[in-house]
Formats: sequence, structure tokens, C-alpha cells
Amino acid sequence: MKGDFLGLWNHLLAVLPAGPCPQPPAAMAARLVKRCACLLREATLVPPAAAPAVAPVGRLRLAQVGRRTLTSATSPGSHFPRSLSGLLEKERVFSARPQQQEVDRLIEKATRPEELLELLGGGHRLHENHAALVLIQLSRLLSDRPEHKASLVRDARFQQLLQLVSSQIASVWHGPLVRLLRSLYALALPAACKQLLSVEQEVRWRLRRLRYKHLAFLAESSTAYMQQRGSQELLAELLVSLERRWAEIEDSRMVVALMAKAGPLSEPLMNRLEDKCLELAEQFGPEELRRVLVTLAAQNRRSVPLLRAVSYHLVQKPFPLTKGILLDLAYAYGKLGFQQTQVLRRLAADLLPHVPSLASGEVARCAKSFALLKWLSGPLFEAFAQHVLDRAQTVPVPHLCNVLLAFAHLNFRPECPEQEDQFFSLVHEKLDSELTGLHPALQVDVVWALCVLRQAREAELRAVLRPELHSQFLEAKSPKDQGTFRKLLHVNASARLEHPGYAGPCLPAAALLPRLSALDGKVTPLQKELQDTLKGLLGSSDRGSFAVPTQYGWILDAEVLLDPDGQFLPLRNFVAPHLAPPSGSQPLPPGAKRLAFLRWEFPSYGSRSRDLLGRFALARRHVQAAGFLVVDVPYYEWLDLKSEWQKGAYLKDKMRKAVAEELAK
Ligand SMILES: *[C@@H]1O[C@H](CO)[C@@H](O)[C@H](O)[C@H]1NC(C)=O
Repeated sequence: MKGDFLGLWNHLLAVLPAGPCPQPPAAMAARLVKRCACLLREATLVPPAAAPAVAPVGRLRLAQVGRRTLTSATSPGSHFPRSLSGLLEKERVFSARPQQQEVDRLIEKATRPEELLELLGGGHRLHENHAALVLIQLSRLLSDRPEHKASLVRDARFQQLLQLVSSQIASVWHGPLVRLLRSLYALALPAACKQLLSVEQEVRWRLRRLRYKHLAFLAESSTAYMQQRGSQELLAELLVSLERRWAEIEDSRMVVALMAKAGPLSEPLMNRLEDKCLELAEQFGPEELRRVLVTLAAQNRRSVPLLRAVSYHLVQKPFPLTKGILLDLAYAYGKLGFQQTQVLRRLAADLLPHVPSLASGEVARCAKSFALLKWLSGPLFEAFAQHVLDRAQTVPVPHLCNVLLAFAHLNFRPECPEQEDQFFSLVHEKLDSELTGLHPALQVDVVWALCVLRQAREAELRAVLRPELHSQFLEAKSPKDQGTFRKLLHVNASARLEHPGYAGPCLPAAALLPRLSALDGKVTPLQKELQDTLKGLLGSSDRGSFAVPTQYGWILDAEVLLDPDGQFLPLRNFVAPHLAPPSGSQPLPPGAKRLAFLRWEFPSYGSRSRDLLGRFALARRHVQAAGFLVVDVPYYEWLDLKSEWQKGAYLKDKMRKAVAEELAK
């Protein structure tokens, strides 16, 4: 027995909090004595070999009552199969004596709160750990009957249990303690409840000694409650403990769960978790890879090393990916704008067979994700179009709009003319009755998309060019509204340049003037080199102009005039109806050509593609329709040109070809 006592004292010393003492010395001493008494009493119940939180063999299980996990009622993450609470519940419970085992069994088997409350008076000697278990079990039984919680909390027996537990809280073991806290939160006890505060205090007191999985359990199950209740100190200390002891994280499930639940609350913790994730990524299954990515996407964290690691495993491992996982992965890659060719190939290929079974909303979401990634998979997009056609009668207009926007972004139209006709007929038919009911910015987006795809009808142009709709965007301040205004300019230009018979309302010319400076971005290397090279060719500054804002909402990189002999003409005197505002009065000399230089940077193209994205294709078309010969300067050709001389020769050659093509028509 002497050895036991020594062990007990050592245990006591070990459990004393390090660091500043939260209580005055007298209270400390009283607490110490109480703790000692409790431990002594426990020592008589528990075989000495068993430290409190360790589970001796052969003891009864508490878990599995009602086959429900602790998190199932409130935690949004509870669909995740192996929850931490599940792990904790598998910890065995402790009673060594037959009489105690009997109580364990009764608690375990209870299916009604009443059975549990009756344990109090039933001649059983309930110790505090039992009381904790009863409270935990009560909370679980009421998890889907919130209307009974208030009456339970008012029950005198409940209060008695609470009192029993909180008066002996120091001797409740680690596992039951953290589950108790979570259960009391779930029972929605009043914020000022003394007993709950004492449980919280005890948890704070013990944070350093709890095992990491207990901390993780609290992080997963209780941080939302702590925030709601304003338990800021406990929450802050919990997060610090999780961060300091991150090396104790045991498995991939735990790190992923922590990332989702506690990561958003603490930047330093999230950084640690990302490191740990990198270390464990090797062991991740598809479910974990999904969760990591969705978590990063939800927090908008574009953590490149981690995204690379996850991508690597997605590509290397042959595990099958379910439809839900594929959709989530596409969403996450899209949201984070992380383009990884092999992953995207795999996603597109694996998704294809699932398309017929997707819901319209899933197709819309998925198309949007691929559009964000600028990834055009022909077969997949054909399948999206077919999906929409197959559900022509039921597809909700917002989903149809999202598919349309994705098509326009990637400048995709169904390959087969018949399918294309059907698709756009359906779009027009739906928009006919519903366009003007959509949010104004969405109306503009949709009509703009139709312009990109060369499918806009006059009625649709009219719908967004009427003053009642467009006036709200003329004074646009927010970036989003300014984007909408720019699209309106493009729609106006479409009406003007591509619909010769259009007689509906227009944007007032004056709307353009104060906006133009806002359209300039910062100068890119390609832009600068193009200007310099061209200036060298022109020889004189009046023979060309640069960064030319047009009425159509596009900015030309440069504009020049060529006479029929291919010589540059000074621009200034000649009529220029495309400028904002229009200028000049002298008509162009016969045979003169106007040339516009348009540079296409890397982001102007689809991923791994030399096809312009919809927006840039529209710009090119408009500039052509406005009477220019277009000189395209794509980044991938420009990059190959090394010397000044090569660059000059390249531009001259391009101009010559543009003129020759025009003549050949
Ligand atoms: C819109 O188009 C009309 C001609 O169709 C034109 O007169 C007007 O200036 C354009 N508005 C803007 C802002 O460019």
C-alpha cells in the first residue's frame, strides 16, 4: 500500500498546474486536499495498476447506446464516418466492482431519460464518474428531442446529478470529463450555470494533462459552443494547447478533423496542421484528401505545397473516387484556382460516366468549377449540354444560367449543330419568360454570355440595355458593379456591331467617359515590349497610338493606319468613330487600312490551350466588326522572339499577313 501512496503523491504532483496559479493559495490547498481525498477513494475502487484514464481489460463499455455518436446531433461534420467521439466512446469504463458494473450496465442500456434519472434514488451508490456518464447519456438521448431539454434541466434529479459531478469534478476522469463538457453544452444549460462553469474551469486546469485526442475531441465537438457562450479563455487556451502539442497528432483523421473545425479559429494552429498534413498525406485515403481540399477551399487557403502533395496522391493512387468526392474535388480546385493538369484530366475523365446521374445543380456547380479552372474538356461539356437537354422541362433557370456562363467563359458551344440549336432554343425559351425576373447583374451576365456565344437575340439585348436596368450600373463603385458595367458596354457593342437591325435602347454615349481610366490595368512586360518595338517601327509618334480606349469597352494595345502601299499614315486628322469620344473629321484615304494590335497574355487562354477564352474572343470579334484588321500578338509566339530585330520583323510580317488576308477575301 505504501508504494501506491507514493505513486498517488507523484501523480498529484504531476497533475498540479504549472505556470501561474489561477487560485489563491488557500483555495489551492483546499483543492489539493480534496483532490487527494478523491484520488484515495478512487484508489480503493480501481486496481492500483490502472492509472485513471487507462482502460483495464475486461471492463464494461459504455458506448453504443442507441448506436449514436456524440456528435451526431449538432456537428455538421458528423456525417464523416469515423468521428473522434466514436473513438473516445470506445474507451472503456472503469468500474471494477460487480455492484459498480451493474450501474455501468444500467446507464449503458437506458433508452429513456427517466430510467437514468431513477438511478439516483434506486439504492445505487453513484460516484461522480457515474454521474458524469449519466449526464452524457442524457444529453445523447435528448440530442434529437431538443424540446425536452428545458424540462430536463429543471428536474431536481438532474440538478442533483449536476451538483454531484461538479462538487467532485477533480476526480472525474479525463475521457468522461471532456465528454461531459460537450454534453452539458449540448443540453443548452444557461450561460451562468455554476456547475457548467466549474466543469469548464476543470478542463482549463487540466488542458496540459489531457491526452491530445481529448483536446481534439473538444476542438471537434465544442468550439462552436465555446464561441456562442463566450467561453473565450477556454477556447483560446485550447487552441494554444492544440498548437503547442501538434507533434502529438496521431493520425490523418485527427489532423483533417482539426483542420476543418479548429483551423479557421487560429492561424498558427492552421499552419501547424498544414505541416502535419503534408507529413501524413501519404496515408490519406480519398475521403481525407477530399476533406483537406474542401477545408482549404472553405477557408480560401491556397496552400501550394499541400495542394501539390494532395494532387500528387490523387494522380498516383488508383483508388476509385466516388461521384461526391469528384464533385467536391472539382469545387475545391476551382475555388482555389489551382490548375494541375493530371488531376484535372482525371477529374474530367472520372466524372464523365457520372454525368447522366447528376442533379442539375451538380452539373451547374461542376461546369462552374471547370470554368474557373479554365479547363475545357470537350466530352464533359458535351455531356453537360446533353444533361440540360434531357431535363429541358425541369431544369431550374439559375442552373441553366450557370451552365451558360461556364460555356461562355470557355467559349464552348456544342459541337453537333443540332444539339447546339436545341440547347440555345431551350435557353431562349426559358429566358423569354424568366430573364427579367433574375437579379439585374445576373441578367447582364446572361445576355453577355449569349453575346460571347453569338446567340443573343434582340429582345434579350433590349432587356438589359433599357435604362431601367442599366442606369443602376452607370455610377458603379464596387468592383463587381464595375465589372457588370463593362459587360454592359460589350453588350451595347454587340448590339451595334453584330445586330445591324437592332433598334432598341442603348447605353448613353456619355456613360463611357468617366469610366475609361478604370479600365486600365498595370503594364505587363509583353505590353511594354510590344509598344517599344512598334514605336521603333513607326519612327514618328504621330503614326500610331497606344492603349486606345474604344467605345466598345475594349482597349486596343495599338492602332495604326496603312496606306495602300503599306506605309504608315499619321492618325490624327482622320475620322475615328471608334474612339471614346469619337474624333477627327477627314475621311480615310481610299484603300487605307486601320490595324489594331491585340496582345493575348497567358491568362487570355484556356488552360493548356491556344483557344482564347470567351471574353477575349468577343473582344477580337468586336474589333474586327468595327472595321479593323486585327494583328494578334499571342504570348507564346512573342516569347520565342529574342532580339529587337526579330520582334520588329515579326510585327511587320504579321501586319503584312493581316492585309493580305483581307485582300484575299
Ligand atoms: C451604345 O451604342 C450606341 C449605338 O448603338 C452608341 O450610340 C452609344 O454611344 C453606345 N454607348 C456607349 C456607352 O458606348
